[in-house]
Amino acid sequence: MAKKETEEEEKSDDVEAEAAEKKLTDVPGIGPGIASKLEAAGVYDLMGLAVMSPPALSEMAGVGEAVARKAIQAARSMMNLGFMSGDEFAKKRENVVFITTGSQSLNSLLGGKGVETGSITEAYGAFGSGKTQLALTLAVNTQLPKDQGGIEGKSVYIDTESTFRPERIRQIAEAIGANPEKVLKNILVARAFNSDHQILLLDKINEMIKDGEPIKLVIVDSLTAHFRAEFAGRGQLADRQQKLNRYLHSLQKLADQHNLAVFVTNQVMANPAVMFGDPTTAIGGHILGHASTYRLYLRRGKGGSRVAKLIDSPNLPENECQFFLTTAGIRDES
Ligand code: GTP
Ligand code: MG
Repeated sequence: MAKKETEEEEKSDDVEAEAAEKKLTDVPGIGPGIASKLEAAGVYDLMGLAVMSPPALSEMAGVGEAVARKAIQAARSMMNLGFMSGDEFAKKRENVVFITTGSQSLNSLLGGKGVETGSITEAYGAFGSGKTQLALTLAVNTQLPKDQGGIEGKSVYIDTESTFRPERIRQIAEAIGANPEKVLKNILVARAFNSDHQILLLDKINEMIKDGEPIKLVIVDSLTAHFRAEFAGRGQLADRQQKLNRYLHSLQKLADQHNLAVFVTNQVMANPAVMFGDPTTAIGGHILGHASTYRLYLRRGKGGSRVAKLIDSPNLPENECQFFLTTAGIRDES
């Protein structure tokens, strides 16, 4: 089993190295003019192109949809990864395990059992909408036995805003009858001082996993705060997007290679138009729209509740549910 994992990792590294050598302009139908338009929009490599939809590419590059479709297919086959046959996909799905959110209705919204491994789950919403509370609850629940909705793993908490609170972890742990100190020990917290540091921490996680740490959940709270602060100028949007896309690739790779869950938060300002256009469209665009990604839009609801809406899911209906932020973490009832 361990040997097989190593082989798969090597294979995946090779594929990635190979793909990195190829440029956008190597794709039939993509000339330098189209390539620079794509780069300006944050699509800088074959992966970025491969995960696009033909209509989106058609609009972005100013080409017909047939040309766009051909270019995307070419990019996919040149990369030779990520797009598996149906039976391979089914096999991969068999290995997926879940971490309960603490709320049955939120679990159902996510397909039944909560946040899944091999995927990135993004929670975005205004301040106080519950993103951090959900992250803390998941950090605890990851450690639960399988029959209680966990995967008996450790969590990594990449904290960019100093919002990690050990006391909250203790409270949430106590509420499920777990030993609070033990639970805290199994959460590896790292403060990320800037976006470069945030990126570097992923290497550290890879090392820890290779050293045998059973890390099954990686939390980045917040995914975007440093990127926003550092790339605040008008002309820096494309650079920010590019760096963020690269970071998301690394997170997805981590999730795939180690069959772990990734949970990221993303704050939406009071006037979302400033950053995102539509408030239900978070940062990250097409990359966060990758097939294995779940996006939850969180907002305040009636009677102190919170509402989660599942956005853009490729395989689940766009639904909403209600949940509560309680001393015990995320719950169905207040
Ligand atoms: P930003 O990080 O500011 O964007 O917000 P966020 O979405 O991360 O909000 P967060 O998850 O921190 O939610 C804060 C809210 O959680 C508070 O306003 C409270 O309603 C609730 N909350 C936090 N701690 C507790 C607690 O111990 N008990 C209860 N009942 N609610 C809590
Ligand atoms: Mg927060």
